[in-house]
Amino acid sequence: MARPDSWAKRARQAGYRSRAAFKLRQLDDSFDLFADGQTVVDLGAAPGGWMQVAIERVGAGGAVIGVDRRRIEPLEADQSVRVELLHGDITDEDTHQRIRELADDGVGLVLSDMAPDMSGEYDLDHARSVHLAQQAFEVAQTLLKPGGDFVVKVFEGRDLDNFRSELEASFEYVATARPKATRQASSEVYLIGKGLLTAPVNIGDRYTVTIEAEGDEGDGIAKVEGFTVFVPDTHVGETLEIAITDVKARFGFARRST
Ligand SMILES: C[S@@+](CC[C@H](N)C(=O)[O-])C[C@H]1O[C@@H](n2cnc3c(N)ncnc32)[C@H](O)[C@@H]1O
Repeated sequence: MARPDSWAKRARQAGYRSRAAFKLRQLDDSFDLFADGQTVVDLGAAPGGWMQVAIERVGAGGAVIGVDRRRIEPLEADQSVRVELLHGDITDEDTHQRIRELADDGVGLVLSDMAPDMSGEYDLDHARSVHLAQQAFEVAQTLLKPGGDFVVKVFEGRDLDNFRSELEASFEYVATARPKATRQASSEVYLIGKGLLTAPVNIGDRYTVTIEAEGDEGDGIAKVEGFTVFVPDTHVGETLEIAITDVKARFGFARRST
C-alpha cells in the first residue's frame, strides 16, 4: 500500500490536478458511485482532480458540472462528455439556481469535497465544515433523481452524528468512509448516501390497502399513492392494515399490522 504522502507524487505522475483524485477513485471502487452517461455535480471542485476522475468514469454521453468559488482552469475531455465550470459560492442561493439551470436533465450523483478556510480553532472549523456539507445536501436533495447518490466531506466533531442522521432519513443507506489517500493527520471523513428516497411512506407508517398483484417472490403487492409496497403472506384481493417495515428508493416492504 502506498504511504499517504506518496499520493501527491502519484497524482502528479497520473496527470491529476490533486491527490484528492485518488480519494474519489477509492470511494467509487468501494461504493460504486459512477454510471455510464450520468450527470455529476461536483461542489468545491477546484483545482479539478475529482472532475478529472468523474470525466473518466461517466464516459460518453455523461456530463460533469464543477462548481467552486475559486476559478477552475479548463479541463481536457473527450467531446462526448459535457463539462461545465461554474464560478460561484455555494452559500449563495444564486449559485444553486445556476447549477439547476445547467443540470436540467436530472443528476445521478452529487459530490462535495468543499472545505472551509481553516481558522485553526477546531470547533469553529468543524462547524463551518458541517455548514458547507448542509449546503451541499440541500443541492443534492433538489437535483438528484430518485435513487441518486451523494458524497460529502465533513470534519469530525460533535455535529457529525446529527448530520449523518439527517442523511439517513433521505437515503436507502449511509456509510462513513476514510479513503486510504487521506492524510493521516486529517480529521476529514466522507459520508456516502446511496439511493435518494423519494417514497411517500416512512418506516412505521400504517395504511389500509388492497393487495393488487403478486410479486416474483410470491409477496403481495399493494400501492400507496402509486408507490409499490411488498407485503408477504397475503393474497390478491385481500384488504388489510399494513405497517411499513423498510423503504427503498422505488419500493418498500410492510407486514400485517393486525
Ligand atoms: C479540498 S478542495 C477540493 C479539491 C477537489 N476535489 C479536487 O480534487 O481538485 C476544496 C474546495 O472547496 C472550495 N470551497 C470552499 N467553500 C466553498 C464555497 N462556499 N463555495 C464553493 N466552493 C467552496 C474551495 O475553494 C476549494 O477549492
